[in-house]
Amino acid sequence: MPDCALTLCVDNGATLAQTAGTGLSGDVTVSADPAEVAGAFEGLQATLQTGYTGVRVDGLRLVDATDDQIEAIRRLVGEYCVAVFPGQYIGPEDHVALIARFGKVTHTPGVNMHPDHDEVHVVANRGDPAKPNSGGFHTDTCFVAKPPSFTSLSAIEVPDHGGDTLFANQYIAYESLSEVMKGWLRGLRLKHVVSGTDRPEAVPDPVWHPAVRTHPVTGRKALYVTYADRCIEAEGMTPAEGESLITYLYEHSLAQHAMYRHRWSEGDFVMWDNRCSLHAAVYDHGDQPRTLYRVMCEGEVPFE
Ligand code: SIN
Repeated sequence: MPDCALTLCVDNGATLAQTAGTGLSGDVTVSADPAEVAGAFEGLQATLQTGYTGVRVDGLRLVDATDDQIEAIRRLVGEYCVAVFPGQYIGPEDHVALIARFGKVTHTPGVNMHPDHDEVHVVANRGDPAKPNSGGFHTDTCFVAKPPSFTSLSAIEVPDHGGDTLFANQYIAYESLSEVMKGWLRGLRLKHVVSGTDRPEAVPDPVWHPAVRTHPVTGRKALYVTYADRCIEAEGMTPAEGESLITYLYEHSLAQHAMYRHRWSEGDFVMWDNRCSLHAAVYDHGDQPRTLYRVMCEGEVPFE
């Protein structure tokens, strides 16, 4: 480890051969050489939260991040799929300004926006009994040509217990497929649509994206699939074949060893990379209020 201020507290850069019982097969890679991520990022500490997924970053006030630190964060989120920054207490204006440093700010059409900040999506149950509205594990707004690269949530009000968010690592999902399956997926595109919406005016035309996409920052390949209501067709396959394949890939993506579960505290700022992860909220907090502000930025057209 070089003498640098960013420490990644994990023995990294290795390839782990998975053993029986892990839920994964094949060889999966544990991300990048931390020395590459490190550098002159004074005071920033990054700690891996599970075997593969989720990194906690301390020693940094995000709103004061230098350009080098923003680049380090871009890299960390890309490598570990999700980064958690505790105790940030970021308000809507600073939130939008921060995400604008990662790309063009965007939002999902038709969602509930903040009355005074038109780029801030308010994710809230308003004290009503919590109802699932994110529909299970998904990658955000995959039904547009340039889906968001990053989504971020700032925790305004959190339940005493429950209301966690789960993240699944789609690099591991891809890498743990057999070579035969990887071969079948080469060149395959899937059709993405909006589902569960009562906002027809906000629904764009379906788009086709590669089933496997290469992350532009890490160069790693990740599965890019969601559940069959949103991912409705595999190009060149019969509806039955497509549905079976998509359902298989989706279920395969949710191996517990490739997941991170975030338990919210007020002031948390969490940022994930939609190009290499799925996420889902757990609605088990009854009528305890849960309010998160959400800001995203646009990504690129997915490529294989
Ligand atoms: C989302 O699906 O973007 C929101 C996740 C959450 O409410 O935890």
